[in-house]
Amino acid sequence: MALRVRVCRLDEIVAGELRGFPVPGASWPVMVTRVDGEVLATSSVCPHEDVSLLDGDLDGPVVTCVGHGYELDLRTGQCRHDARLALRRYRTTIVGDELWIDLI
Ligand code: FES
Repeated sequence: MALRVRVCRLDEIVAGELRGFPVPGASWPVMVTRVDGEVLATSSVCPHEDVSLLDGDLDGPVVTCVGHGYELDLRTGQCRHDARLALRRYRTTIVGDELWIDLI
C-alpha cells in the first residue's frame, strides 16, 4: 500500500521553474515543475552528492546541478553523465486542485 502525501496546489507548479515543498517523511523537499503540461515530481537532492537541485538550471525537462554540472532528466530520473546515478521520481496523483505523491 502506497504512502500518499499532499505536496502543493496545482497553481503552485509553474512551467520553467523548480519549486520545492517539504512533505512529512521526506528528508529533502519534493521538487516539482511542469514540462509540456505534465506535472513532474522528484526528490530535490542530487544523486551525486547532497546538493539541492532547486538551485540548478532548468532547460526543458533537464536540470543541471550546481554541484558539478551533472544533467538530470526529470522525466526519467536518469543522469546524462553517470548511468549509475538516478534521481528519485515520485508517482503523482491529482486530487481536485492538489498534487499528491506516493512516497513509497
Ligand atoms: S552534487 Fe550534483 S553533480 Fe555533483
